[in-house]
Amino acid sequence: MVIGKPLLTVEQIQKKVKELAAIISEDYEGKEILAVGILRGAFIFFSDLVRHIQVPMNIDFIIASSYIKIQTSGDIKIHADLREDIKAKHVLLIEDIVDSGLTLKYIQEMLLARNPASLRTCTFLDKKSRRKTELKLDYIGFEIPDFYIVGYGLDYDNKFRNLPYISVFKEST
Ligand code: IMP
Repeated sequence: MVIGKPLLTVEQIQKKVKELAAIISEDYEGKEILAVGILRGAFIFFSDLVRHIQVPMNIDFIIASSYIKIQTSGDIKIHADLREDIKAKHVLLIEDIVDSGLTLKYIQEMLLARNPASLRTCTFLDKKSRRKTELKLDYIGFEIPDFYIVGYGLDYDNKFRNLPYISVFKEST
């Protein structure tokens, strides 16, 4: 296994998180957010982002999976659902990375069926070239090329989530 040089440094990440939080705070002025993190990948981005958002909020989490090692299975599993009732609430979904888009599409449809007042989605990273479904994304940190990446919450086989920066990962042959 090889971890390359940072694709995104700690400084670049933190600057972008603050920019996103400022836009979100402005958009939701006068409202209360229910911030929903998609675990496990989004745990670091979620905790960084919410600390910079300036409007009142509640938090909740969904635990979902679709990846088997490096390949998406396209078979989305919800391991733990929300504890909160989202009806009539302003839900902000927070995701680490969108690849095929199948995971988010599934979760967005599941939540929309529960009649929130609004549903917006924020993803830190977007591998747009890999998209397999149409998807509404309201806030995007960085659009990145089609690399498999690790760090800042993102894993390979549940490892490397604790790297403070984002790096390209290659399986050694
Ligand atoms: P999608 O359903 O194909 O959009 O996959 C989304 C999920 O796959 C994300 O929430 C991540 O957990 C995982 N994922 C996608 N690309 C990467 C990557 O490059 N590194 C680590 N995890 C990834």
